[in-house]
Amino acid sequence: MRRPLRKVIFPAAGMGTRFLPATKATPKEMLPIVDKPLIQYGVEEALAAGMGKVIMVTGRGKRAIEDHFDISAELESNLNETGKHALYETVSAVSRMVEISYVRQKHALGLGHAVLCAAPWVGDECFGVSLADELIISDVSAMQQLREVYEQTGGSVIGLAHVPETEVNRYGMVDAVEEDGLLRLRDMVEKPAVGESPSDMAMIGRYIFTPRLLELLASTERGIGGEIQLTDAIARLAHEEPVYGVLIEGERFDAGNPLGFLTANTILGLRHPEFGDALRSIIKKNL
Ligand code: G1P
Repeated sequence: MRRPLRKVIFPAAGMGTRFLPATKATPKEMLPIVDKPLIQYGVEEALAAGMGKVIMVTGRGKRAIEDHFDISAELESNLNETGKHALYETVSAVSRMVEISYVRQKHALGLGHAVLCAAPWVGDECFGVSLADELIISDVSAMQQLREVYEQTGGSVIGLAHVPETEVNRYGMVDAVEEDGLLRLRDMVEKPAVGESPSDMAMIGRYIFTPRLLELLASTERGIGGEIQLTDAIARLAHEEPVYGVLIEGERFDAGNPLGFLTANTILGLRHPEFGDALRSIIKKNL
């Protein structure tokens, strides 16, 4: 029997600089992909993996995330009274979908520091971390794909994807070997220079960790960019205990930058049952 896996940390305190001015007063996690904010896709993906306890690590200006997952009594009764029952169901389901706690990251010291802010809430359990601006659309939820390797091994598991050589400087890149049909990660490096990556496999914002990761994070020095890097703590973990990688099956959109965001909205918009066809003809007319 594996230790229960119920909790997921969503670091959501970043300033969204790649999206200014849109993110000056709106958290980037609340930017909509078709008709749902990015963060809701991430939460639904975690839920589909049976991980129903969420902690959001937020910062200044992130109140909209809390409001989104809270009951909106006024809106719900208005929808009810005006007979908009389908919309009422959609809206009220969001506030019921998951148990969420919030913690503030008071200083912008990096992703590793954001995860560390949630440590008291995690306790001694294995837990997930999910970066919502990496949107993954798949038949089996990306977190569930990680969970399957966790159930098999009991070790930490990281979601991976192949990336073009020119993009390795945007990601945490891994050094992996095959072992008993699994990918075992020996090392990883945060944003290596082009030509200096140990492989073409990048970490794409989905992680399951044993609690040891948090102890290592607490003593991880600032790394590249002067930030406490999650990748540096994972590298230390991989030197101590098995850390596995999973090449995620599905479509991935880096929705945290304008081009990836537009791509996600266009592709998912074209598939939308209600207005996909209309969008297709608008695009055709404008080519
Ligand atoms: C973060 C992580 C990096 C990971 C990436 C995935 O970088 O530090 O290891 O590959 O997310 O999107 P960021 O995009 O926050 O610079």
